[in-house]
Amino acid sequence: MRNSPYNSDMKPTASSRAVRLWTAALPEIDTDLLMVPLFEGEGLQGELQDIDGATGGVLGRAIASGEARGKAYETLVTPVAGWRASRVAIVGAGTRADFGTERLRRVATAAALQARQRRVPRVAWLIRGQATAVEVQAAAEGLVLARFSGDTYKSGERGGPPPEDVQVVVPATPDAGALEAAVERGLILAESSNLARELCNEPSNVLTPSVFAERAQRISGEAGIPIEVLDERAIGALGMGLLLGVSRGSAEPPRVIVMRHDPPGAPAFPVLGLVGKGITFDTGGISIKPADGMERMKDDMAGGAAVICAMRAIRLLNAPIRVIGVVPTTENMPGGRALKPGDVLTSASGKTVEVINTDAEGRLILADGLWYARQLGATHLVDVATLTGACVVALGKAASGIFGRPESWVAVVRRTADAAGDRCWPLPLYDEYADQLRSEIADLVNVGGRPAAAATAATFIKEFAGDLPWVHLDIAGTAWADEAKPWQPKGASGVAVRTLAQLPFTSAEWSQAVSKPEEPV
Ligand code: BES
Ligand code: MN
Ligand code: ZN
Repeated sequence: MRNSPYNSDMKPTASSRAVRLWTAALPEIDTDLLMVPLFEGEGLQGELQDIDGATGGVLGRAIASGEARGKAYETLVTPVAGWRASRVAIVGAGTRADFGTERLRRVATAAALQARQRRVPRVAWLIRGQATAVEVQAAAEGLVLARFSGDTYKSGERGGPPPEDVQVVVPATPDAGALEAAVERGLILAESSNLARELCNEPSNVLTPSVFAERAQRISGEAGIPIEVLDERAIGALGMGLLLGVSRGSAEPPRVIVMRHDPPGAPAFPVLGLVGKGITFDTGGISIKPADGMERMKDDMAGGAAVICAMRAIRLLNAPIRVIGVVPTTENMPGGRALKPGDVLTSASGKTVEVINTDAEGRLILADGLWYARQLGATHLVDVATLTGACVVALGKAASGIFGRPESWVAVVRRTADAAGDRCWPLPLYDEYADQLRSEIADLVNVGGRPAAAATAATFIKEFAGDLPWVHLDIAGTAWADEAKPWQPKGASGVAVRTLAQLPFTSAEWSQAVSKPEEPV
């Protein structure tokens, strides 16, 4: 990694880095709480023997008595004597067989969140055995994800502050450079996820479309990404009638946020186009939603936030290919000039849409957004949106829905998402769904009825992806946690940021997977 913030001799820097790599023997680890994963069913072996000694046999007795069983997220904290660390936390990591990067990431987050509740200022995560870059990155991500707090607007009692010092500790290694780079990658990805969570948590009276665009400008400025914000006139000049239609019911003007990553020397092909749904509040419009739970609809811009924050990470990670991020943003409100059921709108692509339900607004603004990404030269498309309640019915909170074509492009995105910890599950795009979108008077209607409503929404969007390889991620169920989990507080999850950010690094797989289109758009 260029401009590495770390000293080459791996002494910790004095800077306030959110996480750093440290190579040290166990007794030399300088921290308040040394966090050590314990697997289910394992006895005192390897590092655990040394730790048992330093705890005066507490660890061995806890394993023998069943107090420490290694069940995922169960933690035992005990003092150590004679080491620079003051205490160890034995953190249940589940079975060795289940211990992949996602488990590691989650267990590290859970341990760091617990340490934070106890207001421990300095924590260290021990990688047991020979450390790989993938493991080190996942641990760093997990630890940094625990820095997020959603308490911006609380003036009284707050959770513990983020720790002052966070280390990923590895045994002596010849790969120090690669592991430092892995920590740096994990840091950038997790900070970008946290930034997206912050944006999603913002109430809609604060985060209007124009403020969303200003935040994107600030993020871009700090990361050094060129950004352009289209105002209502520019949007009108481009003919984005679907976005303008949705924005009509609101006093707040719409915006289109366009960010570009154009690294010098990047190949002309491929160009990744990321499009995110940026509805800063979804009342449903004239087809208004019930009051119960409507406050949740402030996060209907989670897809847009994911794109903006992924662009930040893509720039900071120096992705090797060109990437274009497009975020159409507006409120969906039932004002006096609002779109009404039966209204016909003309999209920027020229296709006309009969709006049957004004609450199916996400697909409308995405349609114009995808068209614009194609205009700007994208060759491969991914859109991300809190699009349908039906996707939540189908998959719950356990996974995002993934749709697209060709299969090979879907497979690339899905593999990347799995590795990033953004689980998604494929749903189909059968031809039959297009029949549900036939209009009497226009090219398409915007809703296909109750059957397969997540798939008809995706089918609608597909009509605007041209012939390009395209993937649609429906994150309606995954963008927001209704319940706290050991590894995740209630609220915005930052879903899809890490997937989108790592996608440009997989482009070597694309050409085998996806053939170059005959004609550019
Ligand atoms: N933003 C909602 C989808 C949503 C629902 C996100 C629940 C998160 C949680 C979207 O704009 C919407 O209203 N979709 C409608 C579509 C319907 C009118 C065809 C839905 O899913 O009910
Ligand atoms: Mn809606
Ligand atoms: Zn919506």
